[in-house]
Amino acid sequence: MPVLETVGPLMGRPSAPLPAKRTALDKFGALPAPSLEWNAGVERDTAHLYERIMNVVPSVEWPFFAPYIRAINAVKKERNAVILAHNYQTPEIYHCVADFVGDSLQLAREATKVKADVIVQAGVHFMAETAKILNPDKTVLIPDVRAGCSLASAITGEDVRLLRERFPGVPVVTYVNTSAEVKAESDITCTSSNALQVVESLGVDKVIFVPDQYLAKYVASQTKVKIIAWKGSCEVHERFTGDEIAMVRANDPSVQIVAHPECPPDVIAASDFTGSTAHMIDWVRKNKPKRVVLVTECSMADNVQAELPDVEFTRPCNLCPHMKRTTLPKILDSLLHMKEEVVVDPAIVDKARRAVERMIYMKS
Ligand code: 13P
Ligand code: SF4
Repeated sequence: MPVLETVGPLMGRPSAPLPAKRTALDKFGALPAPSLEWNAGVERDTAHLYERIMNVVPSVEWPFFAPYIRAINAVKKERNAVILAHNYQTPEIYHCVADFVGDSLQLAREATKVKADVIVQAGVHFMAETAKILNPDKTVLIPDVRAGCSLASAITGEDVRLLRERFPGVPVVTYVNTSAEVKAESDITCTSSNALQVVESLGVDKVIFVPDQYLAKYVASQTKVKIIAWKGSCEVHERFTGDEIAMVRANDPSVQIVAHPECPPDVIAASDFTGSTAHMIDWVRKNKPKRVVLVTECSMADNVQAELPDVEFTRPCNLCPHMKRTTLPKILDSLLHMKEEVVVDPAIVDKARRAVERMIYMKS
């Protein structure tokens, strides 16, 4: 039957307003600001937490932290929320308010098991996005939405599409330090703790590996698989140099040097061990060196020092300005006002989840 009429936009009639999107604040409501006074009650209630960090946080700082810590732990219960904290968070967050801590892989795995209604990501934006991708029906909050990452901003989904055109049929392995849009264009994601296994799991002789050029080089040094790399880098780890590490070694030949694989190759070559942040921590726990340098973000040494007071952690280390955006006052504000809510475009969330889940459930 011929088409009788083709109906287009109805001119002259105002279109119905779109229903306003319900935000996390609409859904959960705001909570009143708790007292942040330092008094004997706060001191008593938080004494057991101070014990965890007393060898890295001076007692004069505790009266500032403790009221926030007590308030955050109370509001977390009220909201049925959990805090996932990366190993680079400061000790008062990592040891006193976090429910789960770890490297990127451990946090992604924890995100698949969360029973709470709300996840607060104490870390950076790509980590919060990963938690959201794995929990599309939960509310995921990031205390400071500006907490980015130089690797995540080094590549776009369009870049990956162009790489596929240039290298047809070559699978794309994407470091989790990327946006959801980039993950959605990828075959599988990886982290610094499983990059080699992920690359080899594909059973191919060539992969595109984005966006960290140094992690790509580190993986390439350990496999026969040919790696096509992208020129991204971590602004924190790329600042370490082989000369700096050689100087540390010359000053103290007995010091142990443990580096993250986002470091340049000469730094890795000069180190005693290389691994993800969780693998670095495990190495120190197991070997208990007298003196060690963690060639990575500075807070990690403080977090491990709190647990292992007999190990001496020496410099160099570098601060990540993105990780340091998360503070106790911002976490409290985030839980009270349900902000900033992490939203992932529904058009890409399923594709991105496929790439992340393929990594999480990969047979080792
Ligand atoms: P991992 O904790 O997974 O080693 O990653 C380090 C990092 O730079 C995260 O931003
Ligand atoms: Fe990104 Fe490097 Fe900071 Fe990690 S340490 S969040 S990789 S900039």
